[in-house]
Amino acid sequence: MRNEIGTLMYNIMDLLDPCLVIEQSIKELKIVFGEDSDIIIYIYDEETDSFSTGCETSAIEIPRGLGLFYDAFRYKKEICKNGSIYLPFTSNRGEILGVMQITRNKNLTLREKNIFREATKVIASIYQNAKVHLAMKETFESFIDTLCSAIDARDFVTSGHSKRTALYAIELCHLLNLDSVTCERIKYASLLHDIGKIGISERLLQKNGRLDETQFLEVKKHTIIGKQILEKTKLPKEFKDIPDIVLSHHERIDGSGYPHSLKGNEIPYESRMLAICDVFDALTSHRQYRSEMKFEPALQLMKNEEGQFDPEILDAFTQIPLEKLKEIHSSYRI
Ligand SMILES: [Fe+2]
Ligand SMILES: [Fe+2]
Repeated sequence: MRNEIGTLMYNIMDLLDPCLVIEQSIKELKIVFGEDSDIIIYIYDEETDSFSTGCETSAIEIPRGLGLFYDAFRYKKEICKNGSIYLPFTSNRGEILGVMQITRNKNLTLREKNIFREATKVIASIYQNAKVHLAMKETFESFIDTLCSAIDARDFVTSGHSKRTALYAIELCHLLNLDSVTCERIKYASLLHDIGKIGISERLLQKNGRLDETQFLEVKKHTIIGKQILEKTKLPKEFKDIPDIVLSHHERIDGSGYPHSLKGNEIPYESRMLAICDVFDALTSHRQYRSEMKFEPALQLMKNEEGQFDPEILDAFTQIPLEKLKEIHSSYRI
């Protein structure tokens, strides 16, 4: 029994998505109990006061009170009926999360019943952890979203700029086949890239007309201020580089950017991606001193600016389908 439970635990313990925990657990249990076994995990949803089996599109909603499994849920105890076993699915703290059911033509042996009981405990605990992780991730994302709205709201002309920049960056990530953690890092860095503008006077940010040299020097400081703000935030280790990515989003490949005149590979890869998405959104959006550019001329202008962008990343950016560019361009505008 130790073997079966150990393998199950090993194969699901690193999953951070509750849906994946359920799906993978069912696959693992089918290996243990045989393909002819029918295994269902009913998950209780407090908000809708109903149960679902599976996730998203494969989910079937069952109203409270229907089905034999409901007795196991209601009485919080194991029920054996009509050749099926129903086990309450509870967290370590005793909170009932749902019910696990197994049905098989050939009766389960005592040993198999014990494996099913132990498996239920293990799956419930890992599922609960994944749910907590998901809730924390959602809190983190909503916090970043709020911060991002606060940045964009400072200037109605650039409203939605950070969110659109992030959407372009996500498309670029897919085209560059980057892993999911890197995609998340670039998404958050894009949403926060102009956070340093919080420290720049609104008079400058909303100035009608081009900035003079002194004013431009002042606005350039938003990269350094951005890094300083983000450095004070306790970020998970996979996002530790975000302050530096933000710091370098105005660097140029030829070393003529700011704040540190970094060249080529000295500029973090994510900053080179961000620079392209940032400039593309700026060019294709209306500004006080010029009207918005069409996509083609904007991309051409960026290609002509030799030395500003990483050519390989820019090349990938130009592969984003026109329909996608249009969809992102029209988002978050007031
Ligand atoms: Fe910026
Ligand atoms: Fe920007």
